[in-house]
Amino acid sequence: MDIKRYLEEKKEIVEDALEKYLPNRPEIKGEGVIPTSLYKAIRYSLFAGGKRIRPVLSMAAFEAVGGKGNGILPFACALEMIHTYSLIHDDLPAMDNDDFRRGKPTCHKVFGEAVGILAGDALLTEAFHLMTNQAIPEVSGHRAELILSVIHEVAQAVGMSGMVGGQACDIESEGKEVDFPTLQYIHTHKTGALILVSVRLGARLGSGSEESLKALTRYGEGIGLAFQIADDILNIEGNTIQLGKKTGSDLFKKKVTYPSLLGMEESKKRAKELVEISVDALRLMGSEADPLREIARFILSRES
Ligand code: IPE
Ligand code: IPE
Ligand code: MG
Ligand code: MG
Repeated sequence: MDIKRYLEEKKEIVEDALEKYLPNRPEIKGEGVIPTSLYKAIRYSLFAGGKRIRPVLSMAAFEAVGGKGNGILPFACALEMIHTYSLIHDDLPAMDNDDFRRGKPTCHKVFGEAVGILAGDALLTEAFHLMTNQAIPEVSGHRAELILSVIHEVAQAVGMSGMVGGQACDIESEGKEVDFPTLQYIHTHKTGALILVSVRLGARLGSGSEESLKALTRYGEGIGLAFQIADDILNIEGNTIQLGKKTGSDLFKKKVTYPSLLGMEESKKRAKELVEISVDALRLMGSEADPLREIARFILSRES
């Protein structure tokens, strides 16, 4: 299959849905007036470009287990809102202090730190607003319970025992000598947790069997970690223009990364092994899981 084309097609569906949820006007029906600078900052970062890999993963997992229709889209968009919030906050001077993201000046560079912080806050909250909207008012019984449980899982994955916990450990470890388990904690939490929950959310909303959920969990864990190892590698070997963000910054900030702890060759080997393990986890699934297999390989070969 043509994975580039698949990613482009799915990305366009996500972009259109995001446009619908956060249209280019300051007033959204039923939401009252939203301060212009806040709304501009939100749209600036959300539509700055980005691979949309988390929403696409949720859609691919949904379809791999036989999910049909557009019911996954609000959840897919919520994942991208959470991811974009995490990037805005990650770039702040108090965090990674980065000036470029998605090929453009970072949110706080354009709108100031206060609005940047608030744009992140708003995107995180809006994600849960959007997801909970799907549980009311017509949905009831088993479906409503499932949706509530999925939202609960997302909250767990991105909060203090998930993504935010990973970010805290990442910041606290700067300039320190940390051991491999700490590095592993950082990577599986700051990046792995949201990627894993994206896959699981798709599989759960697509009503996948227990067996396929188990397989997809192993897949999500593997590619989640591989994704951050690839990010570490690209920070050294990547091209700033293609990446849309500055390279060399991990070394400058004395971040603990796979290459800094294990060396470049070993890091590449581990990323490749993780992708192989992830693909192997799907061995009992048919061709419906081909996009997931190709996305795993894409994570290694990507240049942006
Ligand atoms: C970058 O994520 C931050 C990490 C968690 C490694 P992506 O590489 O998915 O960034 P975008 O969304 O394409 O900009
Ligand atoms: C980003 O990690 C993780 C989150 C935003 C949650 P990094 O700080 O390593 O990612 P980049 O390199 O800035 O995209
Ligand atoms: Mg960071
Ligand atoms: Mg960063």
